[in-house]
Amino acid sequence: MNEQIVILDFGSQYTQVIARRIRECKVYSTIIHYNTSAATIAEMNPSGIILSGGPSSVYARDAPLPDKTIFELGVPILGICFGHQVMATFLNGKVERGQKREYGKGMLRVKNTRCRLFDSLPKELQVWNSHGDKLTRLPDGFKAVATTENSGFAAIENARARFYGLQFHPEVVHTPKGKKIISNFVHKICDCGRKWTMRNYVEQAVEDIRAQAGKEKVILGLSGGVDSSVAAALIHKAIGKRLTCIFVNNGVLRANEAEVVKKVFGRNFRVKLHYEDATSLFMRKLRGVSDPEKKRKIIGNTFIDVFQKATSKVGKARFLAQGTLYPDVIESVPIGGNPAALIKSHHNVGGLPENMKFDLIEPLRCLFKDEVRQLGAELGLPREIVMRQPFPGPGLAVRILGEVTPERCEILRNADTIVVEEMKANKLYYKIWQSFAVLLPVRSVGVMGDERTYDYTIAVRAVESKDGMTADWVKLPYKVIETLSTRIINEVKGVNRVCLDVSSKPPATIEWE
Ligand code: XMP
Repeated sequence: MNEQIVILDFGSQYTQVIARRIRECKVYSTIIHYNTSAATIAEMNPSGIILSGGPSSVYARDAPLPDKTIFELGVPILGICFGHQVMATFLNGKVERGQKREYGKGMLRVKNTRCRLFDSLPKELQVWNSHGDKLTRLPDGFKAVATTENSGFAAIENARARFYGLQFHPEVVHTPKGKKIISNFVHKICDCGRKWTMRNYVEQAVEDIRAQAGKEKVILGLSGGVDSSVAAALIHKAIGKRLTCIFVNNGVLRANEAEVVKKVFGRNFRVKLHYEDATSLFMRKLRGVSDPEKKRKIIGNTFIDVFQKATSKVGKARFLAQGTLYPDVIESVPIGGNPAALIKSHHNVGGLPENMKFDLIEPLRCLFKDEVRQLGAELGLPREIVMRQPFPGPGLAVRILGEVTPERCEILRNADTIVVEEMKANKLYYKIWQSFAVLLPVRSVGVMGDERTYDYTIAVRAVESKDGMTADWVKLPYKVIETLSTRIINEVKGVNRVCLDVSSKPPATIEWE
């Protein structure tokens, strides 16, 4: 069993960031609901507990509070921001509304350099604050370790009990040495080793998959995206030919997508691959449909039908494998949660119909996306697959505004290929979140040679983002924009105008539909 740190989530937007930072320190971490009982936590046998930040005030009537006996487990505890205030309040300190909200960059002065949390760190550190309340009386047995301009108790410790509190956020990038603080907590205070690596995970996961699948067959819907590809490679390593992957061509894939999947999985990995070309069926269903939500539903439902038929073609299987990731399974605390989450009906087709009974195998359930990419590399998948940009389930259909026709698919595919080629050639493709072409349903007048044209417009979209929830448009060099425009207009028949999308999310979204 892996050593682990458990994080009690009080609804901070940074809870998952804390979990990722700990894993970057090669220690496993799990996020649990703030009111999980101390008995359940004790069963998890954690090496340490972190109390996350959160948007509430500890003295509010409906404040989220933990089981108070977690402080009697004998396990090291680190409270961050709201978590720091929770710990102080439970242990007889005092938290009050501050005169001034402390928000943004601040300078931390470490007074007690012997505190293990600040081991090998300078006496002055830039930190990120985001709080209105502050500690006005130290809890029993605690000492002040560091201060900021506004707070005499910005970092506190009870070294004997191994309890620590930080008023600022060590997990965010705006606290540049924050990762060292977290590493000090997990390695020097909780005594964790460095066992959580994707190399170790492969072994453990292969064993688990073999134990779960036994002698049974497994089916997996391969999309060519990172998650399903890594799941396929991992399960294949565990059970070889007892895995069958089904790849459905829905007619709205990018150029060469099907070929890449066939080459990598069919030829290199020798995975049993069933290729189902349903292009004409999807095109027929999409004919005459312009509404974005209707397009998504049609694609989702048709996919289920085609996938279901394909599963009966490949023979009976007991298990269905899915590339579900950790952020999809964390029982999130809605307070302070992001209401932007569900604006489009995306993030994919719900479940399969009731009559399709499978047991699930989800070998990526405890991994974050960056870990999945590392795992893919560990398994020998090419960079082209593990580092690829996200691509929506409904494919090019949400990038063809208005009706999806084979002719429009062809135009967009050709323009998109140029965008991908140029982004790669200019070493930008793997640096940013997404870059792609969008086909607008607008035609405008142009002139080519002596001829008047009346053709479509392509919008180029390139965005930076951490998780797709918010995004900034990328300030592409003029030279790249120029090449994109020239190449698209010269090489893609049916296009005579190129625009650059300079909108951020919010208020725009990344995809146009
Ligand atoms: P938006 O357009 O909502 O997109 O800003 C945020 C991220 O989600 C991707 N996206 C989708 N992914 N099915 C998916 O699997 C969808 O229907 C879908 N729509 C958007 C989008 O590419 C971006 O990364």
